[in-house]
Order: sequence, then C-alpha cells, then structure tokens
Amino acid sequence: MQLPKLTPLQSRLLASAVATCLLVVIWISFQPHHFVYAAELPIAPEDVQHSQFGQSIPPAPPDGSLISAEDSMGEEGVDGGYAPDFAYFDRSLIGRQQQEVEKLTNSQAMEMDANPGTTKYFVLEKSQLRARTLLADSLHARGLENASESGTGQIEVIREEGEAVEDDMRDELKRRQAGNTVWISANTCRQPTPDVALITGDVPQLTLYVSTKNTKPGPDSTNDLLTDPISFKEGFANFTLQTTSDVFIGVSAPSLPQGWNGSWHFEVAASVDGYYHSYDNATQFIYLVDTDSESALFITYNLSASNSSDQFDKWSQSPLPFTLYAFPDGTWSPMMGLENSFCGLKEQFNATNNITVSSSVTKKFGLNYPKGQFHVQNLKSNTGYTGFLAVNGSAQDLQLPDGGTVRGGGQVFQKFTWTTKADDSCQVIYDLNFCEDVAYAVPSSPQFKPNMTRLKDLYDQQANSYYQNFSNSLDQVACNTTSTAQYSLARNCTDCRNDYKAWLCSVLIPRCEDWNATQDWLHDRNINTPFADGSIPYASNMSLEFNNTRRNRFAYNQSRNPMIDLEIKPGPYKELLPCEDLCFDIVRSCPAQLGFSCPNGLAGQMSYGRKDPWNLTCNFPGAIVKLNQVMGGAGALTARVAPVVSVVTLAGLMLWL
Ligand SMILES: *[C@@H]1O[C@H](CO)[C@@H](O)[C@H](O)[C@H]1NC(C)=O
Ligand SMILES: *[C@@H]1O[C@H](CO)[C@@H](O)[C@H](O)[C@H]1NC(C)=O
Ligand SMILES: *[C@@H]1O[C@H](CO)[C@@H](O)[C@H](O)[C@H]1NC(C)=O
Ligand SMILES: *[C@@H]1O[C@H](CO)[C@@H](O)[C@H](O)[C@H]1NC(C)=O
Ligand SMILES: *[C@@H]1O[C@H](CO)[C@@H](O)[C@H](O)[C@H]1NC(C)=O
Ligand SMILES: *[C@@H]1O[C@H](CO)[C@@H](O)[C@H](O)[C@H]1NC(C)=O
Ligand SMILES: *[C@@H]1O[C@H](CO)[C@@H](O)[C@H](O)[C@H]1NC(C)=O
Ligand SMILES: *[C@@H]1O[C@H](CO)[C@@H](O)[C@H](O)[C@H]1NC(C)=O
Ligand SMILES: *[C@@H]1O[C@H](CO)[C@@H](O)[C@H](O)[C@H]1NC(C)=O
Ligand SMILES: *[C@@H]1O[C@H](CO)[C@@H](O)[C@H](O)[C@H]1NC(C)=O
Ligand SMILES: *[C@@H]1O[C@H](CO)[C@@H](O)[C@H](O)[C@H]1NC(C)=O
Ligand SMILES: *[C@@H]1O[C@H](CO)[C@@H](O)[C@H](O)[C@H]1NC(C)=O
Repeated sequence: MQLPKLTPLQSRLLASAVATCLLVVIWISFQPHHFVYAAELPIAPEDVQHSQFGQSIPPAPPDGSLISAEDSMGEEGVDGGYAPDFAYFDRSLIGRQQQEVEKLTNSQAMEMDANPGTTKYFVLEKSQLRARTLLADSLHARGLENASESGTGQIEVIREEGEAVEDDMRDELKRRQAGNTVWISANTCRQPTPDVALITGDVPQLTLYVSTKNTKPGPDSTNDLLTDPISFKEGFANFTLQTTSDVFIGVSAPSLPQGWNGSWHFEVAASVDGYYHSYDNATQFIYLVDTDSESALFITYNLSASNSSDQFDKWSQSPLPFTLYAFPDGTWSPMMGLENSFCGLKEQFNATNNITVSSSVTKKFGLNYPKGQFHVQNLKSNTGYTGFLAVNGSAQDLQLPDGGTVRGGGQVFQKFTWTTKADDSCQVIYDLNFCEDVAYAVPSSPQFKPNMTRLKDLYDQQANSYYQNFSNSLDQVACNTTSTAQYSLARNCTDCRNDYKAWLCSVLIPRCEDWNATQDWLHDRNINTPFADGSIPYASNMSLEFNNTRRNRFAYNQSRNPMIDLEIKPGPYKELLPCEDLCFDIVRSCPAQLGFSCPNGLAGQMSYGRKDPWNLTCNFPGAIVKLNQVMGGAGALTARVAPVVSVVTLAGLMLWL
C-alpha cells in the first residue's frame, strides 16, 4: 500500500510530533523510580516495606538477629530510627559506624551488656596515661610540705626543691620514651545459661582484642592487634602493654552454640597502676575448720604479718573485706565459667543460693594473729560444695599480707571443695566464752540445730564450772608461794591452769564425726542407742565376743561426758579423740599433789589419739585442715615431748573408759 502524500507543513508537524513522543518516552524512562524499582530486587522484603513507606522499623525480632548484627549498644531504637534513610547501603556498615567507642577512665571499670555475636569497643585515651604522672606531681608538690603523703616524700623533703623537680623531669622523660605500662583486665559478670539440663562442653567465653592503631579491634577487624585475641578464662582476661598512645580495646561475644541462651554482662578496666581485676589461682587463703550437716566453718590465713593487738583491732573494727562464695556441686553450677571473676561469682551466688555466710575476725587459731572466720550455713547434708574466697574490690587498694595488692575490681582466690556431714548428730560451734579455742563439730541433736547458742552455753557452762572447782583446789596447793618454794622450776600455776583448761575443754566437748565415717582412728560412741530410724548400730553382729569387747563396754556405749547423753542425746556418733599430749601437759605442768596421771595401754588408746603429720588423727585446740593436709593452728604439730606417765584416770573428773 502506498503512503499518502504529505504537504511540507504536514510532514513538519509529523516530525515534531514524533520528536515529542520520543522526548516523552526518554523523559519517562529517566524517572528515578524506575532505578529504585530495579535496585529493590535484591533487598529483603521487610526492608522494602520500610523504605517504601518510611515507617519506623518494628523492634528487633525475638531472636535478636537485627540488634546483634549491629551492636546496638543497648540503646534501643537508635538503629531503627536511622535504618530507613540508608536502606540502599549495607546495613551492617552503618551499624558499625554508629557503634560508639566508649572512653575508659584510668582505674575505673565500665560495665556493658553484650548480645551473642556482637563486639563492644573501648578506648583508654593517652590523656589517661598521664593521669598518673599528674597525680604523682601533685602528690609530690604536697609532699614537700606534707611528707607522709607520698612514699618518697621523706627523702624529697630533705632535698632542695629544684633537685626534686629535676628528678621528676628526668623520670618523666624516661616514661615518655618507654611509654606507660597499661594493665587491662576484664571480668564476666553474667553469661548465657544452658537451656538443657545436661550440658556438655564449656561455657562460651568472651574474647578480648587490644590494639593501639586499630580503633575497633574485633573478630571482623584483626589488623594491628598487639596480641592474638585473648579468650576469657573462667570469666577473666588480662593484658599488659607499654604505650604512649591511645589503647583500643574490643570485647567480643561469640554467637551461641545450640543449647545456650541469654547474653553477657561484663566489666572492663584499664589502669596505669596495676590490674583492676585479679585472681590468684595458686593460693586458697583459707582453711577448713570443720563441717556439720548444714554448715561449714572456715578461717583465712593471717590477715596481718603482725600479731599486735592494734592489728587485731584494726581488722575487727571495719567490715571484713573478704567474702566467701559457695555453690553446691552438680552437673551444672552457675559459677561454671566464672571461676576467676569476682563480679561473676558475686552475682551468681546472690541469684542462685540460699546459702548464708557470717564473717568475723578471730585471733584464736594460733598466736593471736588476726584471721577472718566464716560460718557458711543453709547447706544441704552429705553434699559436695565448691567455695571461693574473694577480696572485695573497693576504692582503696587493699594490701594483702603476702605483698599482693587488690584494686577496685576485687580478687578471687583458688577454689576449694568440701563435703557436708550426713548426720544431724554433729554440729559446729565456735566463739565460746570460756572454751574459746573450741571451734569444731560437737555431739548435738535435731532439737539443738536451730539454736547454736543453746548448745554452746550447755557445754561452755559445764566446762567453766569444772574449771572453777579445779582452780580453787590449785590455789590451796602450791600457787601463792615464793619462787623458791615453787613445785617446779620449769612450770608454774599459770601453765597448770592453761594446760588444764585446754585438756578440760577437749575432753568435755568432744569432736564429732558422722557415724559412717570410716577412718580407723575414730572412736564409736553410743553404739547401743538407736538411730533416728530405730535401727541400732552393728545389728548384724550379735556375737558374744562382740558384746564383750564392744557393745557392753562403757568406752563404746556411752559418751565420755555424761551430760551429752543425758541432755543432748545425739544417738550413735564417732569421736575424734583428744590428743594424748593434752593429758601429758597437765601431768607435767601441775603440782604432783593434785594426783594427775594419764592412762596408758588399752585404756590410753581408748581415751586419747596420737598426732600424725599427715592426717588429723586426734583433736587439739586450733586444729584446722588444709586440703587433705593437717596443720596445727598454734604450731601445735611441733609435738611436745611426752613424759612417761603412769596408769589411772585423771583426778577431778569422772571418765568412762
Ligand atoms: C597534709 O595533707 C592533707 C591532705 O591534703 C591536709 O589536709 C593537711 O593539712 C596537710 N598537712 C600539712 C601539715 O600541711
Ligand atoms: C594475667 O594475670 C595473671 C594473674 O594475675 C598473670 O599470671 C598473667 O601473667 C597475666 N597475663 C598477662 C598477659 O599479663
Ligand atoms: C532460653 O530458652 C528457654 C527455653 O527454650 C526459654 O524459656 C527462655 O525464655 C530462654 N531465655 C532467654 C533469656 O532467652
Ligand atoms: C588453675 O590451676 C589449676 C591447677 O593448678 C589448673 O588446673 C587450672 O587450669 C588453672 N586455671 C586457670 C584459669 O589458670
Ligand atoms: C546480694 O544479696 C545480699 C543479701 O541479700 C544483698 O545485701 C546484696 O546487696 C546483694 N548483692 C548483689 C550484688 O546483688
Ligand atoms: C531457698 O529456700 C526456699 C525456702 O526455704 C526454698 O523454697 C528454695 O527452694 C531454696 N532455694 C534453693 C536454691 O535452695
Ligand atoms: C537460743 O538459746 C538461748 C539460750 O538458751 C536463748 O537465750 C535464745 O533465746 C534462743 N534463741 C532462739 C532463737 O531460740
Ligand atoms: C593467789 O594469788 C592470786 C593472785 O596472785 C589471787 O588471785 C588468789 O586469790 C590467791 N590465792 C590464795 C589461795 O591466796
Ligand atoms: C609462769 O611461767 C611463765 C613462763 O613459763 C611466766 O611468763 C609467768 O609469769 C609465770 N607465772 C607466774 C604466776 O609466775
Ligand atoms: C554416709 O551415709 C550416707 C547416707 O546416709 C552416704 O550417702 C554416704 O556416702 C556415707 N558416707 C560414707 C563415708 O560412707
Ligand atoms: C549381744 O547383745 C545384744 C544386744 O544387747 C543381744 O540382743 C544379743 O543377744 C547379745 N548376744 C549374745 C550372744 O549374748
Ligand atoms: C593419711 O595421710 C597419708 C599421707 O597424706 C595418706 O596417704 C593416707 O591415705 C592418709 N590416711 C587416711 C586413712 O586418710
């Protein structure tokens, strides 16, 4: 078909119409929303919605994936508010740019939450490095007029002022060249918990990254690290460096393996003075004194290198800066993974335990040195426990007697374990008024369990009244004479009184063990008395021989102190016999007129135990236990030589053998 012929005017009109159409098409095709349309394809559906409608982003989904990808710093909504405007960019990049780097202050901890898969950043700016120098300067300036303020003040006071300043400048120059030492430490205070009962494998731990160049060291940015990433060990991480520049720290939380949920809470601190947090994996700093079915008694090592009474007063006047934490053994214990972390143990102990700990300062376990004393109660019977002694962190550094310094973040000592007794027939008593050295489990019964004071008073008053009778007799015999008329050159009445008291308290207040404890040095008591369930001991052995050697003998079917069976009624129990030295000592120290002598032969064996360098085989004042090792509190194991003595029971007290 032939085209119609057009006039020049018509053809010009057509040309401009075509051009206009093309223009329109081109204009339309350059509209921005077409690019948007094309770019939107790879973006996840919910992001498209947000960017198209400009709505605020809903809170993070319950699985925490949004927050965790972006390190929200715990400030909810910050990411949500910014995200729509930058929907075309990589969200994680923006998230990281918003991630703050927190500024640390010298010797102050910063606390932080961390979700799984996130990293938190910190910086100790170099201005903080100088904090120490400035402090030293100001101390020095004061030191010139106030010498005791600074350690070296004494010397500087004598010097000319200019000389001291010169020294300071030299020191400062040295410091600038070498850089300051910075101690970085961190403690995990809270961690994810297993959501299945039987957990295998270790608790996931945080990781510490340190750099002086990389401002955000972490698992995604490992360039310029000063050291390989440091994995927290049982909730503790540390690092030391010399530097003159800013120190950047990253603490990264791993993503959680199957079976764990929750998040972390931690403390990080950098200091130019020394580690803010610390632990001592080599020392326990504590001894076990004794346990019963619901409690355990401990004492610490000496708190001071001096046993002067003002040291004791100093320690006993302010609250004890130590805390004891205890956790029952089990497949999972909340202290697992936090064993080197003071804040971790503290939080877990408070959150998961009914255990109560009362503490005081005592000087009874040897030579008047002040020691901390802890009574841990509300324990379950026949159960293993793990304990930790910790030094509370405080603004003021604490100097330990071994020379260590504990700063604000506290210190955890090495863990220790113990097992509570199974029976209610023994109960720990301590801090008696008269028998002040008694601190161990004694025969008791359920009726005395709720009131330790009642049990203490019963024993203590009995011992005190026996002692008064003895003391009166002693006065009549030999004491108030001139030294030439003394009964002995080596011993006097003071020695006699002390030794009698130590012996009396040990014999009247026996040390009690579970019936089914098996050590062969323990001695059966009350074997004809039924147990709580009505059965009697050795029910399977009714032989005449057993009746004659055991069942019918007072040494086994009664307590040595009749008051115990009459008033306390503990049922069958075992006794850790008093050490024979206690008896030898009174024989040696007291006037012969009193007629003291110690039983020997079989009678002696059934009344007294003999000391052993490795095991606590007999009881003596101040006996304590270190791990499986036995120590004499008053150096009592340096056994005094026993004199040869003759038969018969001791005068002044009826004893059943
Ligand atoms: C020593 O320093 C303390 C604290 O700065 C101040 O209170 C005291 O007055 C000073 N003593 C002397 C003698 O300057
Ligand atoms: C971390 O602290 C422990 C115990 O205080 C110490 O033995 C260890 O040397 C320290 N590690 C570093 C890298 O400083
Ligand atoms: C952990 O998981 C359990 C069960 O799966 C759930 O009940 C609990 O709320 C979770 N805890 C946290 C902190 O997410
Ligand atoms: C602590 O010491 C014990 C034994 O000395 C050792 O088995 C354990 O690994 C140590 N723990 C840490 C965190 O160093
Ligand atoms: C732990 O519990 C005790 C007693 O209930 C309370 O006084 C103390 O403030 C608690 N400490 C922490 C860290 O929660
Ligand atoms: C703490 O004591 C209460 C009441 O005596 C008891 O119900 C609870 O089970 C105890 N908790 C633990 C962890 O023993
Ligand atoms: C415990 O016993 C003592 C002495 O018998 C008595 O004074 C005290 O009131 C008792 N305490 C309780 C809580 O029963
Ligand atoms: C012996 O002397 C002491 C003080 O030295 C005194 O307390 C005591 O009553 C005196 N005893 C006798 C029997 O004189
Ligand atoms: C007894 O002897 C001790 C030294 O063994 C001495 O310190 C003490 O003063 C003496 N006591 C009397 C009353 O003489
Ligand atoms: C003591 O008896 C309890 C049960 O009453 C038992 O669990 C425990 O293992 C026994 N201890 C010893 C040392 O036999
Ligand atoms: C031994 O003593 C028990 C309890 O008193 C008694 O039941 C038993 O018959 C005695 N055995 C002999 C052989 O007498
Ligand atoms: C006594 O101590 C030694 C040395 O530590 C040890 O080998 C032994 O088993 C202990 N005896 C008992 C019965 O525990």
